[in-house]
Amino acid sequence: MQTITTVSEMQAFAESLRAQGKKIGLVPTMGALHDGHLSLIKLAAQKADVVIVSVFVNPTQFGPSEDFNKYPRDLARDVELCGKTGAQVVFAPSSEEMYPKGYSTYVNEEHVAKPLEGASRPTHFRGVTTVVAKLFNIIRPAFAVFGQKDAQQVAVIMKMTADLNMPVEIVVAPTIREQGGLAMSSRNRYLSTSQREESLAISQALQYAKGMVERGERRVDRLVAEVTHMLGQKRRVRIIYASIVDRHSMEPAREVVPGQSLLAIAAWVDEVRLIDNVVL
Ligand code: PAJ
Repeated sequence: MQTITTVSEMQAFAESLRAQGKKIGLVPTMGALHDGHLSLIKLAAQKADVVIVSVFVNPTQFGPSEDFNKYPRDLARDVELCGKTGAQVVFAPSSEEMYPKGYSTYVNEEHVAKPLEGASRPTHFRGVTTVVAKLFNIIRPAFAVFGQKDAQQVAVIMKMTADLNMPVEIVVAPTIREQGGLAMSSRNRYLSTSQREESLAISQALQYAKGMVERGERRVDRLVAEVTHMLGQKRRVRIIYASIVDRHSMEPAREVVPGQSLLAIAAWVDEVRLIDNVVL
């Protein structure tokens, strides 16, 4: 396992790998790795000669009142897990290395990034697209793996790579869940036992809606009403949005198109913000 912390060293190392004809797979992360992240690394290892995992808590994607400072960080543990899971390199730059004094260039996707997460976190995707574009330029991987857990992030990054002609294949990995259904997230460690218990309602509501669609329901308002009702039973859960959208454009669906429509939920469980989704 090799840990690289500077952009110039990462660029030179990736360049030497490509010169040897090696296929590079990149897994971008913010660290605090869990089994969801590890599934992405395993998938990358099946397709790549060399897997590079970036571990970087990206300041530009956090809003001013969000959890950047208290976001969990444990690089030594992350490096060890990456090595055990089939990665060869961890790229872990500092904030100053990625955004040196006077940094002033940002990448903005202006359509897919607008609704849902974009509505409640207006600068979030600008930070995500900027850092992912930088990682693609530094490492120039053949492909990069992203999790369906963050469905809008996947859609925004696919749009960015298409619009900017970036020669990187985007590979999407399924959502890994804890027993009981809660989607794994680095933020789950903020949850108390009772909050965790109530947060199960989110994945249950998604599964219930998927079941309704399998039984023939196509009306968006019926599905959203049912999901809202289910989450409304929980004392600690407050819905930020529960929306049915096209899985690629993130535009509101008029009726459910199976395989194409996505039900996305964001909710506060007390002060912890969780998101989850299902393709209907
Ligand atoms: P982070 O939240 O660390 O997630 C890194 C990757 O792991 C993302 O592609 C995310 O979708 C995926 N992931 C997280 N939980 C998952 C789960 N339960 N199952 C499957 N995949 C899961 O997403 C980010 O970091 C950042 O925005 C980043 C892309 C690294 C840019 O800073």
